[in-house]
Amino acid sequence: MAYQPDYFKEVRKAQSNAYAPYSKFKVGAYLITKDGKTYHGANVENAAYPLGICAERSSLVAAIADGYRPGDFESITVTVDAESPSSPCGSCRQVLKELCDDEMPVYMTNHKGDMIQSTVSDLLPLGFSGKDLN
Ligand code: THU
Repeated sequence: MAYQPDYFKEVRKAQSNAYAPYSKFKVGAYLITKDGKTYHGANVENAAYPLGICAERSSLVAAIADGYRPGDFESITVTVDAESPSSPCGSCRQVLKELCDDEMPVYMTNHKGDMIQSTVSDLLPLGFSGKDLN
């Protein structure tokens, strides 16, 4: 579905739950399933830095743990507090590739409400997936 104003309200709500005491860079994610369920994700950092998880993946793992499966997702919206919307990191792109349709929209926003739209496959062209293992 096309980007809706409530996506921004919800993703900002998600961002408010970020636990980012080290980077101070709070990220929110708002994942919507094709059957209309929604998941709020936020980055969760750790004193052992590499253990931190990004907002995008936190929303996706919550949905999978709840029973959703690859292909069940409609869109993801991400938000940061930065001059320009920032896009998902490489690890999140790979997880998006695993769990979401190639054409699924990824809406990237910032605190000002700027929005950049992309898709999973545009963010990870020629991405590796389970198909490559056959
Ligand atoms: N972060 C995300 O949550 N998503 C991204 O796609 C980029 C980075 C988080 C990880 C870390 O907690 C903080 O932002 C700074 O890198």
